[in-house]
Amino acid sequence: MMNTTDTNSKVKVRVPATSANLGAGFDVFGLALDCLYDEVYMELTTGKSIEILGVEGYDVPEEPSENCAAVAASKVFEMKGYAHGAKMWMRKCIRPKSGLGSSAASSVGGALAASKLLGGLSYEDILLCAGEGERVSSMSAHLDNVAPALLGGFTIIRSYSPLDIVRLEAFSSMGIVVVLPEVEVSTKEARAILPESAPVKDVVRNAGNASAFVAGFIREDIALMGRAMVDAIFEKAREPLMPWLSDIRKVAIGAGASGLSLSGSGPSVIALFDKREHRGKEISKAITEAFLENGIDSEGFICSVGRGAMEISEGAVI
Ligand code: HSE
Repeated sequence: MMNTTDTNSKVKVRVPATSANLGAGFDVFGLALDCLYDEVYMELTTGKSIEILGVEGYDVPEEPSENCAAVAASKVFEMKGYAHGAKMWMRKCIRPKSGLGSSAASSVGGALAASKLLGGLSYEDILLCAGEGERVSSMSAHLDNVAPALLGGFTIIRSYSPLDIVRLEAFSSMGIVVVLPEVEVSTKEARAILPESAPVKDVVRNAGNASAFVAGFIREDIALMGRAMVDAIFEKAREPLMPWLSDIRKVAIGAGASGLSLSGSGPSVIALFDKREHRGKEISKAITEAFLENGIDSEGFICSVGRGAMEISEGAVI
């Protein structure tokens, strides 16, 4: 068993927003974004439990058993056989229930900070601990947001035994517009309405789209990636929660986007564009105007594929 003097006793980490699914890659694809970040500060204590001393920004539960970061950190403590406690502060800039990986950012922040304080775990173990944080918010330990939040880039999760995590590096012409509407959709709610089974033709369409998206990424073919951002099963099942989606897609493509999908379980949308041919500004403007026509305010972000979670100025209190 370790004690608090074995390693550094405080750390601060920064974790990016992420977008999962990207069309047909349900629970498989994830992309780190370079526009929004959360921070987690953690200090080991000689106490017996994890305490949350403050959350700045968006509201999240401060009761440790309901807080994704604290749950993920406690899984790391368990794995490392650490029997003491920690105190934590969080800065939440990624809105919960936005589809931008807010719970994943908290979970990765908690797991990575705890791992750094206790001498390190493998990336795979950090991801599994962060997955337990995700379970608190959505009842499911899916890793499609936590993988890019931790590793950066574009990630593909094969979540069966053995777990495979494939990470692909971004390419420079890939532009991203993310638009966050002023409506909330919880992942729990958006998963509860998913079908138990799907027609073979939709499964075939999704397999083609997911494969083409990856091929497009490898070939740096944004037009192919955009055409492939279509999910005939899960996104379709969620449309009653977000009936504006097909309007928004049409408008985005009309303004120069190669394709658009829900970001994760929504309500954010993510559009891809080729930076050599278009500017994100027009696409973002067209999407926010289309939301407004549907009676919804929204905020657009123009971004690129981001780096993964990292330690920042160790020891500083937020
Ligand atoms: N793949 C997940 C879903 C992402 O669509 O439910 C949300 O966390």
